[in-house]
Amino acid sequence: MTADFFPEERAEMPPKMPFVAALAAAAARDHAPFYAPGHKRGQGSLAHWRDLVGPGALRLDLPELPELDNLFAPTGPLLAAQRLAAQAFGAEETYFLANGTTCGLEAAILATCGPGDRVLIPRNAHRSILSALVLSGAQPIYLAPLDDPVWDLAYGLAPKQVATALAQWDRVRAVVVVSPTYQGVCADVAAIVAIAHAQQIPVIVDEAHGPHFGVHPDLPPSAIAAGADIVVQSTHKVLSALSQASMLHCQGDLVDRDRLRQALQLTQSTSPNALLLASLDAARYQYVTEGRDRWAEVMALAHTVRSRLGALSPWAVLTPAAVQAAGAPSLDLTRLTVDVSALGITGFTADEYLNEVWGVTAELPTLRQLTFILSVGNTAADGDRLVHAFQQLIAAAPTLDAAPPVPRSPAPIAPIREPPCSPRDAFFAMPRSRDWAAAIGHISADSLCPYPPGIPVILPGEVITKAAIAYLQAIQHAGGTITGSADPQGQTVRVVEL
Ligand SMILES: Cc1ncc(COP(=O)(O)O)c(C=O)c1O
Repeated sequence: MTADFFPEERAEMPPKMPFVAALAAAAARDHAPFYAPGHKRGQGSLAHWRDLVGPGALRLDLPELPELDNLFAPTGPLLAAQRLAAQAFGAEETYFLANGTTCGLEAAILATCGPGDRVLIPRNAHRSILSALVLSGAQPIYLAPLDDPVWDLAYGLAPKQVATALAQWDRVRAVVVVSPTYQGVCADVAAIVAIAHAQQIPVIVDEAHGPHFGVHPDLPPSAIAAGADIVVQSTHKVLSALSQASMLHCQGDLVDRDRLRQALQLTQSTSPNALLLASLDAARYQYVTEGRDRWAEVMALAHTVRSRLGALSPWAVLTPAAVQAAGAPSLDLTRLTVDVSALGITGFTADEYLNEVWGVTAELPTLRQLTFILSVGNTAADGDRLVHAFQQLIAAAPTLDAAPPVPRSPAPIAPIREPPCSPRDAFFAMPRSRDWAAAIGHISADSLCPYPPGIPVILPGEVITKAAIAYLQAIQHAGGTITGSADPQGQTVRVVEL
């Protein structure tokens, strides 16, 4: 590759993207690279790989050169980019994350909870929270989220649940809230913050699916606006950053910022990918400059698709009225969840048909439903294609595999409880492997988790119940995948020998 492949003029980026501009300038600079990564700006890459990725992208894959700042001690363009992001998202401070929301949630728990401290957690939290419990040694108090028996879905925490748990348990060092859920259902974050702050307890919000909330007044309120102390967003899931690029926002004085920064160093690579970090800077710039108009278009597209699908009717589309009936305050209308059970097929079967026959690919198939993410990357043609594919599904459904009967997931709806063994003790115990059925009544050392959505049915430290095993077997039988077993076939679970 010649030096002029990346011409000087490409270094002239809009000044309001400090890290993008610094990266472009570094990529354009003529020099002999004696540093990692070994492909040296693409010059040493396999030709096929270079053609596939594009030489421009490889040229931008640079390490933490002096002019590119340092993620753990930023003083230059990265610090400037993070400050602009804090401004854009309404936070006091923002940290760029190169290891997804996963590392941000782990750091948030490590920054607030030590071994033996209690933390309130909705039982339908993502598995990254479990990792945080193993890493920190904190003891979870699992709270049942709002339950929607009509949709067979678990939503966010009700403020009342948080108040009850705080009255019952001492040594609670943080409250974790998931808002929105995968399906876009929000919790009343402001009310939960008011309850927790009355006892000086910080609130950590997993806003992986809501980084766009602050961009338009018709979207639900963002968790930072609702007063949460730490908010972690998957900028890559909904806004336009590259996969794995997330942001952690914080405000207030309930969280020790020095400890938070230390924790972020524990959970991230010392070689953060510059393309990921630059994509956060670009996504933030797009958010502030054209975000409002672009998201108005996304909401208009979502409205059209929702009403056209609703008119076809052999299924139900999740609506604000449905989630409000179950007690949740709001729904992000750009998340589209369609229940196909009235067609006599599973969400997995519908997903396979829509994907393989019509090239319409959902984010999340579950037993009964399919969830689609709409964002600024979608076009009106995508919407037409989705509606057309669903029209065809009505005719095809009788020829597809019929849905087997499946029980409800028992995990999220159990009452408030402290598991008999902490996830950390269970993880480090000397476990024994048993077949699922033989493990009933024992304490699990593993997390067994249908993926997606990555919400464990059994967590380390919990007693394995008959209902949980029946549910996991039904999911496998219906074509779903269970992750977390030590054996590749997913038939065994390791149990703690106490
Ligand atoms: C609710 C929730 N929280 C956290 C995560 C982890 O996010 P990331 O993939 O950015 O690490 C996910 C990922 O799917 C998620 O759905």
